[in-house]
Parts: sequence; C-alpha cells; structure tokens
Amino acid sequence: MLEPTYLTETQFLNNLDLRKEIEQGLLSETALISPKFLYDNLGSHLFTAITLLPEYYPTKTEKSIFEKNKLDIAQALGLKKGLIDLGAGNCQKAESLFHSLQPSSYTAIDFSIDYLKEILPQLQNKYPEIEMFGIGMDFSKNLKLPNSVTTSSHNFFYPGSSIGNFTKTDAQQLLTQIKAELREGGLLIGVDLMKEDSILFNAYDDPLKLTAAFNLNILRVVNSLIGSDFNVAEFKHYIKINHSLQRVELYLEALKDTTVTWADHIRTFKCGELIHTENSHKYTPESIKNLLTSAGFQSFHLWTDPKNYFALIYAT
Ligand code: AVJ
Repeated sequence: MLEPTYLTETQFLNNLDLRKEIEQGLLSETALISPKFLYDNLGSHLFTAITLLPEYYPTKTEKSIFEKNKLDIAQALGLKKGLIDLGAGNCQKAESLFHSLQPSSYTAIDFSIDYLKEILPQLQNKYPEIEMFGIGMDFSKNLKLPNSVTTSSHNFFYPGSSIGNFTKTDAQQLLTQIKAELREGGLLIGVDLMKEDSILFNAYDDPLKLTAAFNLNILRVVNSLIGSDFNVAEFKHYIKINHSLQRVELYLEALKDTTVTWADHIRTFKCGELIHTENSHKYTPESIKNLLTSAGFQSFHLWTDPKNYFALIYAT
C-alpha cells in the first residue's frame, strides 16, 4: 500500500500559541473564538455533512463550475504541475480536478491532521501516480511551506470560499504570502458572491441544525484545548447578516447567565450574550479582483455559475 508523506504533525493539541489565542479571545469584551477551531476531526466531518445539505449552495455551485469549465481551467493552470491545497478538508474538490490537471504532486494542508490522515491514504491509493503530501498546519497567520513542496512548478488551490473567513486586511495578507510562494504557477480560488438574505439564512441556519451542531462543537474543541468547562447545552447557534461588512456572522448565544472557568481564569456570560465564532465574507467579481490586485496578482480568469452565486478565479 502506497502511503502519503506527512511533512508535519499538527500543533493542534497542547499548542501554547493556540491556547493563548483562545484565552485572549474569551477574555475580550465581546468574546471571540477563531473559526479554525471549528475543525477538529468531528468538526471536519460535520462540515462535510453541511456540504451535502440542499440549502448549503457554495460547495455544489463551485463543483458545477469546475465541471462545466474543466478544460478551460486546465488550460489556464497548465498540466502536470504540483497542486497545493489550502484547507483541503475531505480533498474532494481537488480530486475533481485530478483527471484534467494530472498534477505531478498533491499537497493537502489542513488544520486537522487527524482528518487528513483519515482521508489522504485512500486518495493516495486511488491515484498512485500522484505523489501526495499531508501537512497539518495553521496557515491563517503565517504561510510557511516546506521547500520540498514549493520548489517545483506548482499552483495553489484555495476553494470553497475559505478566504471568506478572513477580514479584508487579513485576506490581503494571506494572499500576498501566497503570491510570494508562487514561481510560474498561480492561485485557483473560489469565493462566495453576495446574494439575497433568504438564501444566506437557509444556508447558514439550516432546518436540520447541522450548522448549529458545527458551530456549537467549537465549545467542545475549546474545552479540550484549554481545559475550560463550557456547557454546550447553555448556548445556541445564532447568525446575523452584516450588510455593511458584506458578510454572514456566526455566533453562539448564551441561553442563561453562566460562568466558564479554566486554569486560573473565569469568564461570565449574561443571558443573550454572544460569542463571535465566524465571519463568512461575500464578494462581488469586482471586489475579489480588487483584493487580489492589492495582493500583487496581475491577471485573472473568472468563471461563475448561471445564478452568479459563486465565482472561481485563476489569478497570476
Ligand atoms: C468553509 C468558511 C467556506 O463560510 O460557508 C459553513 C464554513 N460555516 N457553514 C462558509 C461554514 C457555516 C464555510 N467556509
């Protein structure tokens, strides 16, 4: 059996920086937990389940764009280059491009190395001709890749509108770092487009409550990372559409007055008080091109779907 190569183990458990980041967020006036903590192994499975919901349009729409424009995409990216997948998750989006791109190597990067280790071995066996690497890494603050994956000609792949988690400033910073890591290749990025509120509400507060479970799971991740005693049953999933900032905001709302403790810290929440857990920014074709331009990208191929729900861009 052919095995992928794991270039790093994750810093996920017991990492001091990550613990400090969580503590600082919890002690802020408006409590805040970074969305990357949504993705432990269970959270990654819950997100994959969300992508199967009829209400969650981004994954399906992006997939339809890949399918419809396969040849065009392959022509833009070039064949037989390395493919570096940022936030690979279940690796299905990248896999859908293997046939047309014939990548020489595939590097899957994800915050949850546990989930990657579940997914990647099967993929490696299915595609023995592609050299595969798995990296457990938090690239949200700093994108530092091993030379072994960046020296050859490669494209970056950042699908799913994961960039939407970042504020414009942080997104610009990450995109600038991606640009700096490119040689001849480019960046294939998927971004969600601004649309009617009703569609966003159904996608981010689905009637099966999968998104609620996904959001609430972050408290269990936090409990296991810092040893806090959040009671998941005392919070509920809540979303807001922020029009001026062009984003969907996810929160956990305290259902009663409650106190959370860990180590030598304590944080009280009043009934109705919110913990901010995620931003999902929505773009227009113009605003994403402007952002990419501000990060140093110069030319763009853009594909979208007939409803203009989602955009796929190849930027160099
Ligand atoms: C993985 C960040 C693109 O913002 O749509 C799905 C995460 N949050 N449902 C998104 C998410 C709630 C997702 N991204």
